[in-house]
Amino acid sequence: MSKPWRHGIRAGVAALGLLAGVAVAGYWVPLVKDNLHDPESPAIGVLQEPAEALSKLPPDPAGNQVDWIKAIEDGVIQPRTGLHSREPMRIRDDFILLENTGEMPMVRFPHRSHTLWLDCKNCHEKYFVSRAGANPINMYKILQGEYCGRCHGAVAFPLTECKRCHSVPRKKD
Ligand code: HEC
Ligand code: HEC
Ligand code: HEC
Repeated sequence: MSKPWRHGIRAGVAALGLLAGVAVAGYWVPLVKDNLHDPESPAIGVLQEPAEALSKLPPDPAGNQVDWIKAIEDGVIQPRTGLHSREPMRIRDDFILLENTGEMPMVRFPHRSHTLWLDCKNCHEKYFVSRAGANPINMYKILQGEYCGRCHGAVAFPLTECKRCHSVPRKKD
């Protein structure tokens, strides 16, 4: 005997899932509620809402919900390289494998994704000595806002996204 109600329930659950997905993926706090802008200010109605600006960019489940690397690689955004210049960025294409991660998968640091936005001087030599393995990085210091933590958790994706950095599995002996 067929049980048509089952389909009804499934469809209902699917619809709920879909709604939840949309609600979670597309939520940006409005300016009046972000605890940064003065909700009484007359400018509040003039400023662009984050949802209006960011919903048009490639989506991401974490942080401010934009996949910024995809946005720049696909040419959806074309940031100026300087206030007065349009000099090309200096792009570096290699990856550095950071292996001191204990039981966690190793960290693959992509120069390219960073040099699309940042100049070498933003990191070298003040925050990172430019020699593989020369920096005593660890997770505690990162959580304290040093090394990768100068940006990640502040302006780049949050530190709760372990796997985005710890992306290279260790070979089991
Ligand atoms: C977001 C920060 C950041 C930026 C921007 C950056 N680097 Fe690096 N760089 C690193 C990190 C992290 C390492 C690895 C350090 C380690 O292993 O301890 C590294 C390592 C290096 C190394 C050593 C490579 C090796 O194999 O020994 C060189 C050379 C280097 N960077 C040059 C550059 C140049 C040139 C630019 C600009 C085009 C640049 N970097 C931009 C963070 C950065
Ligand atoms: C922004 C990149 C990034 C994120 C996100 C990140 N880590 Fe790390 N983690 C590192 C780097 C870099 C090291 C040091 C690797 C090296 O120096 O060889 C490290 C080291 C570690 C280590 C080795 C022991 C120690 O204290 O340093 C552990 C364990 C660790 N991370 C766990 C985590 C966990 C769990 C998360 C998520 C909650 C996380 N990490 C998120 C970059 C990251
Ligand atoms: C000076 C700022 C800065 C520092 C320092 C920095 N990052 Fe990033 N990182 C960014 C920005 C900006 C992005 C792009 C925006 C985003 O993904 O949130 C990014 C993106 C990434 C990505 C995603 C790459 C992709 O192609 O999707 C990884 C992985 C990453 N960083 C790892 C690291 C690790 C590991 C360190 C420390 C060794 C580090 N970052 C240090 C600013 C920084």
